[in-house]
Formats: sequence, C-alpha cells, structure tokens
Amino acid sequence: MLAVLRGVGGALPARAVTNEDLEARLDTTDEWIRSRTGIGTRHQVDPGTATSDLAVAAGRLALENAGVDTVDVVIVATSTPDHRCPATAPDVAARLGLGTVPAFDIAAVCSGFVYGLVQADALIRAGVGERVLLIGADTFSTLVDPADRANAVIFGDGAGAVVLGAGTDDDLGALGPFTLGSDGTALDLIRVEAGGSRRPGVDPEEPSAWFSMQGRAVFAAAVAAMADACRSVLGSSGWTADDVDHLVAHQANRRILTMVAAAIGVAPERAVLHLDRVGNTSAASIPLALAAHASEMRPGDRVLLTAFGGGTTWGAGALTWPDLDRPAITLV
Ligand code: ACO
Repeated sequence: MLAVLRGVGGALPARAVTNEDLEARLDTTDEWIRSRTGIGTRHQVDPGTATSDLAVAAGRLALENAGVDTVDVVIVATSTPDHRCPATAPDVAARLGLGTVPAFDIAAVCSGFVYGLVQADALIRAGVGERVLLIGADTFSTLVDPADRANAVIFGDGAGAVVLGAGTDDDLGALGPFTLGSDGTALDLIRVEAGGSRRPGVDPEEPSAWFSMQGRAVFAAAVAAMADACRSVLGSSGWTADDVDHLVAHQANRRILTMVAAAIGVAPERAVLHLDRVGNTSAASIPLALAAHASEMRPGDRVLLTAFGGGTTWGAGALTWPDLDRPAITLV
C-alpha cells in the first residue's frame, strides 16, 4: 500500500495586505514587489489568531472534500507552531474531533509539506494507519519584523491540508516516488536566531528576534536544489519533462518558478502560479496551490511537486491527480 490523495482544503486569514498597503508604511513600491517577486497580495492573521486556527479550518475542509470524518494520524508541518512546546498537531486533532490518534509536527520550514507527504506515505506503507491528515500551516507574519521591507513583502499566512488514504500505484491520486535532502552547513541562510535553546531569550528590539534570510543566496540555492530534486523524481518515476502536466513548486518567487521549470525542461505555462495572491506561505504553499488550482487539473494529470526551505531542506515528489470534488479555501 502507498499514500493516495483523497481530499484537499485550504484556509487564509480574512485580512488581505496588498502591495499598496505596504507602500503606505514601508520604503517599497508595488512595481519593485511585482517585478522582483510576482506577489500582489498576501493574507495576515490578526493578533490572537494562531497557526492552529488556520490549520483546523483547512483540515476540516480537506476532510469534507475527502468525504471522511476519521483519520488514523494527524501531521502538521509548520515552523510557526502555536507554542515552543507542545506540538500543534494534537490540539488540531482534538479540535477537529479526531479523538486520540497519533499527532505530531514536522519542522522543515518551506519544505515541510513535502517532508510530511513522505512521512505519511511511510506510515501508510508500514501499516501504522490507513488514513492520514497532513496539514501545512504557517503564520510568518508572527516571525517577520513588520519593518523589514525585504521579508515583509514576501511572506503571507495560510494553511493547506490533504487527506491521504491507502491505495496502490495504479490508483488515481497515487503519490511518489519522492526525494528529500538537507544541507545544515547553510543553516545561516534562513533562520530566526533567538528564541530556541541556543539563545532562549527574545528581545523584540534585537534583529535576532526576527526572521532573517539571505535572499540572493537562497534564490540560487532554491533553484539548484528544486531542479535537482525534480530531475531525480523524473528519473525514478520514468516521467519525461513533457509528461509533467503541472509543476507545483514552492511559491516563493515567480522568477524561481520560471527558472526551475526552464532548468528541467517543463513548459513555463505548466508551472502553477499562486504566489501572486498569497505570497510565500511556507509549509502551506503547495497544498494551498493545489486547492486553488484544482479546477485546472484533470483526473490522471501528472503533477510534479517540489519545495525548498530553511535548514536548508528540499524535496520533490510525483502525484497523479485524483478525481476530486472541487476543493474549497475558506477565510478565517
Ligand atoms: N522594496 C524595495 N527595495 C527593496 C526591497 C523592497 N521590499 N527589499 C529589498 N530592496 C532593495 C535592497 O535593499 C537592495 O538595495 P541596494 O541594491 O541599494 O542594496 C535591492 O533592493 C536589491 O536587493 P536584493 O535582496 O538583492 O533583491 P533581490 O532581487 O535578490 O530580491 C528577494 C530579493 C525577493 C528576497 C529574492 O532574493 C528572493 O526571492 N529570494 C528567495 C527567497 C526564497 O525563495 N525563499 C524561500 C525559502 S524561505 C523559507 O524557507 C522560509
């Protein structure tokens, strides 16, 4: 048995922040943001709304989309958990009425959803459970200094969820093969320095309290790692670049999407673009893009998924699109 996609759902904070809104409070322009990133709008939580609130809403829609109300495991991929301790997934499972099922978080930053797919597939193959709810959820607005124009324009908050069931590789919705990787020597490219065990105190006046990213180095590393990961999955799946109907890459930057598609020989119009409406939503990026673009996908379409994030981490996987009801994205 292996993991098969049965349902998808998404959630965004109701508050949309446009480039014009950012122009009003930062030294930036709509033209700079659009030309460098492709982003037009992102959504941000208001104080008091946590990552789990988005995760619960997305998870509920994915369960409805799959037509089920029980699962055997809940996984939340996030690097903005509600608390440093405990994990966010048990709370999400309880609030979704899923009982006392195993529930845990995965922290692989923007690659967390792809890492979660591999974990869910492994649990299904091992017979731990037949159905897994995997949610990618992040609220980077709680990590990024609102005065940091380089990062504040890029990130948005959101959650995307999938229900994975047990099936065979002949089933529509079958997932895999996958590849994953990491390079801890590049730890400094993307991080929040303070607030962990190495530096527990957080002084909000210090840059160490906030998210930092070496944008240009991340750009180059992201293109190289995602292209390599995609080539690896194309090789192991037996697909050619022409077989790929939809390239769903982590929605970080439109130029990154274009360059990854070009590097692996996939036509640019097959690269799904969702970041224009939501920005970089980290672990939520891929499932939100799937939920938003599902109407363009036909049962049996070949979908190539890939992500790159802090760690650094990366991954890719193959998906044969299932026969799904149209997924919904709700506002929280
Ligand atoms: N508005 C106007 N000017 C700006 C802004 C802004 N919002 N931000 C930066 N600038 C300026 C800089 O200060 C710099 O000015 P200078 O030349 O006078 O010094 C100039 O614009 C160029 O800055 P760069 O950082 O070199 O701009 P670049 O073209 O590289 O774009 C960006 C920056 C968008 C961050 C890009 O590097 C990028 O997308 N990187 C990849 C990010 C990514 O993929 N992240 C995914 C992983 S994230 C995760 O895992 C959490």
